[in-house]
Amino acid sequence: MAAQAVNVLITGANRGLGLEMVKQMVEGKIPVRKMFACCRDPDGPRAEALRTLAKEHPNKIYTICLDTTDLCSIKQCAQLVDSQVGTEGLNLLINNAGILLRHSLLETSTEDMQETFNTNIIGPMNMIKEFLPHLRAAVKTSNIPGMSTRKAAVVGISSLLGSIHDTKETYSNMSSVAYRISKAGLNMMTMCAAAELDNDEILFSLLHPGWVRTDMGGKDGLIDAQESVQGMLDVMATLTEKQNVSFLDYQGHPLPW
Ligand SMILES: NC(=O)c1ccc[n+]([C@@H]2O[C@H](COP(=O)([O-])OP(=O)(O)OC[C@H]3O[C@@H](n4cnc5c(N)ncnc54)[C@H](OP(=O)(O)O)[C@@H]3O)[C@@H](O)[C@H]2O)c1
Repeated sequence: MAAQAVNVLITGANRGLGLEMVKQMVEGKIPVRKMFACCRDPDGPRAEALRTLAKEHPNKIYTICLDTTDLCSIKQCAQLVDSQVGTEGLNLLINNAGILLRHSLLETSTEDMQETFNTNIIGPMNMIKEFLPHLRAAVKTSNIPGMSTRKAAVVGISSLLGSIHDTKETYSNMSSVAYRISKAGLNMMTMCAAAELDNDEILFSLLHPGWVRTDMGGKDGLIDAQESVQGMLDVMATLTEKQNVSFLDYQGHPLPW
């Protein structure tokens, strides 16, 4: 990625992959002008590491309270971001926040499905809708040709478990039915957004972070958050219009839908 600094927003930025993304980006992996690190409880105990990081990078990291299942919360967050970026807009929106329930089909309740869909699909959809003016503003002020994460992009953190094609192979290791369906839905929602906003020059991408040792991935994960995020940021840096609406893993390999 070239030297032009970007305005970035990350959801679920207080722990796991979100926190590691904030850390690596502000430490220079991607030149950042303003980093909006959003989480449900920025003053709570689970955001301590983020608060420490924000103190080390004043005027760069802005911690914002955001529950992605709450439209009012998203709208308030959009207003705050607006007051900070103005006509510069938002270059990169990373829909990272997610939940995983490990239930099989027979164990999955209506409430499990609703909770998971609210967080993993409807939240990212509302984020795209509410931040569209900021993404469009970034396109307007940019003089970069084509599509890129330096100009205006939405990256959804998806999962291999959302691959319909690979379900047979992966199901025996982990059923997590609501999660699988939600990530397949996130992929479809992203495709729809890209199709509908075809003329806006906003890049859409879906990334699978690998099986990562976070609270969600557990201790048996194959890689740590540092490796996963390093890979995902490298992939993000290389995305162009050729990879618009791509579904890639953290090493840049295309995944089957
Ligand atoms: N770890 C893996 O192996 C793996 C593999 C494939 C895909 N992924 C995807 O990668 C993303 C990050 O996963 P992770 O491993 O970092 O998980 P994690 O350690 O469990 O962290 C999840 C993050 O999402 C936030 N979150 C959940 N619901 C939210 C809501 N309604 N509003 C705002 N924030 C919310 C959590 O905030 P709180 O602290 O407030 O709960 C937390 O910051 C997820 O989308 C996940 O599906 C992970």
